[in-house]
Amino acid sequence: MIVELFSHNVDSILEIYASDFKDGWNRGQLLSAFSSGRFVSFAVKKNDKIVSVITCSVSFEEADLEGIVTLKEHKNKGYAKALIEHLIAFLKEKKVEKLFLEVREGNLSAINLYKKVGFNQISIRKKYYQNGENALIMVKEI
Ligand SMILES: CC(C)(COP(=O)(O)OP(=O)(O)OC[C@H]1O[C@@H](n2cnc3c(N)ncnc32)[C@H](O)[C@@H]1OP(=O)(O)O)[C@@H](O)C(=O)NCCC(=O)NCCS
Repeated sequence: MIVELFSHNVDSILEIYASDFKDGWNRGQLLSAFSSGRFVSFAVKKNDKIVSVITCSVSFEEADLEGIVTLKEHKNKGYAKALIEHLIAFLKEKKVEKLFLEVREGNLSAINLYKKVGFNQISIRKKYYQNGENALIMVKEI
């Protein structure tokens, strides 16, 4: 089941980020994003437990995928793909035209996921991350 998350769910988002996502926003950033009214988050729930989360900033006709994380024991069940497809349908309703994201060049599972749902690489930001890793910038036309 896919549900929408709100500012009172920020602990659930942080818990999943902490499991396997070092580049995610912190509590202050997430709360400020929610209060801007231009931020959306969805989650996959199984037996009342949140197992996968997606977060996204929306700015008129463009949006930025901020994070997507699935708990380790629930990976490879199609949950992240289902969340991106749900987000894309939501953005389409809102007349958003482009969804951007940045991803570590070495994060092959995420890059595969993004390609699978139709993202294309548009540029590379050299040494973008603190450890010197490059960021790939990808976009999906909605
Ligand atoms: C990337 C991530 C979100 C994928 O979550 P998931 O729920 O396991 O993904 P899905 O089961 O929906 O997989 C969908 C597709 O993604 C790709 N994929 C997922 N895991 C993969 C892996 N370990 N290796 C290669 N491709 C992978 C595949 O193309 C897969 O499709 P397929 O099963 O038909 O081959 C998950 O591995 C994760 O939480 N990673 C850590 C956080 C992160 O790096 N997030 C992305 C940066 S924002």
